[in-house]
Amino acid sequence: MEIFSQKVLKWFDKQGRKHLPWQQNINPYRVWVSEIMLQQTQVKTVIPYYERFMKSFPSVQALANADQDEVLKHWSGLGYYARARNMHKSAKQVCDEYAGVFPENLDEIVSLSGIGRSTGAAILSISHGQQQAILDGNVKRVLARVFAVEGWPGKSTVLKKLWEIADSLVPNTRNADYTQAMMDLGATVCTRTKPACDNCPLQADCLALQQGNQTDYPGKKPKKSLPEKHTVMLLLQNKAGEIFMQKRPPVGIWGGLWCFPQFETKALANEYLIENYQHDSASINTLAEFSHTFSHFRLHIQALIIQIETPLMIGVMEPEDSLWYNSQTEFNGGLAAPVQLLLNTLNLTQKDKTHGTNG
Ligand code: ADE
Ligand code: SF4
Repeated sequence: MEIFSQKVLKWFDKQGRKHLPWQQNINPYRVWVSEIMLQQTQVKTVIPYYERFMKSFPSVQALANADQDEVLKHWSGLGYYARARNMHKSAKQVCDEYAGVFPENLDEIVSLSGIGRSTGAAILSISHGQQQAILDGNVKRVLARVFAVEGWPGKSTVLKKLWEIADSLVPNTRNADYTQAMMDLGATVCTRTKPACDNCPLQADCLALQQGNQTDYPGKKPKKSLPEKHTVMLLLQNKAGEIFMQKRPPVGIWGGLWCFPQFETKALANEYLIENYQHDSASINTLAEFSHTFSHFRLHIQALIIQIETPLMIGVMEPEDSLWYNSQTEFNGGLAAPVQLLLNTLNLTQKDKTHGTNG
């Protein structure tokens, strides 16, 4: 049986990228700069920046001796400028503390500013062929899929599992090619939304492919689950077609906005109807439930459209806090998004009634 890394290397020999600028005249400095630029930026964007940077700062000494403004100018448009500032700082550190020779030990590399475990390992693997496992975003995706590792890799237990897998797979020969191959595989074949499994050297091993749920991996950052609340809104419509609106109290959810009478349950809504309109709701039209998300809870809204025969006013309501609104006209006040949505829906259904619906 072929082992994992052999399949990946065989694929790399046929399909991998071998002519990128940082793959020429390889040394730790050149690899370092490329890895930092590639951290948040795509290869094709990086190439011209990389070439300009190398022309101006061909060595770690050249970078260490440059002005910060000059370094940042070479970064303009790449974004995440802390990357450039950290790199500049680390170049000085390499010159001062390591006599200008890039450290060859992972712990020492990782102690430099802006170099994490995966980036440090990539530098050592690509520039010295050291047997080091990497785990950048691309590799996380490939491994999570092949081994069906569930959960969000931002979670330490998930990350630990992925590192264990990555460590167990590194070959003791051609490590540099293997590192580049894993990055390329993630970037070009096992892509985030449309993995090209037909062209993948790992298709026979891939558990996610077997399950048919490749894009479920890696797991997403869990959204904080919001409390769920329910409300019933009554869209009371009188014979003139007007809708009854109430102004909400000035503080709290939708404070000061205009809304429909709102109840926690249908039973409470019914009580209100009986009390105020004496059963005269001639027809009830139940709209599909929908939800509105606030920052701290989700509100499920059940709206009922009710035709009112007699336009009773509600006794306890202050007059300026309620009104009958002709929904074909502009509203003179604030409306919460779901209220606006319901008014639009209502207008559409009324138009359908007037013009007839023919599908
Ligand atoms: N992304 C990060 N490092 C890379 C590399 N060496 N080649 C291509 N894409 C990368
Ligand atoms: Fe990714 Fe598909 Fe290959 Fe699995 S088979 S590693 S999902 S490209």
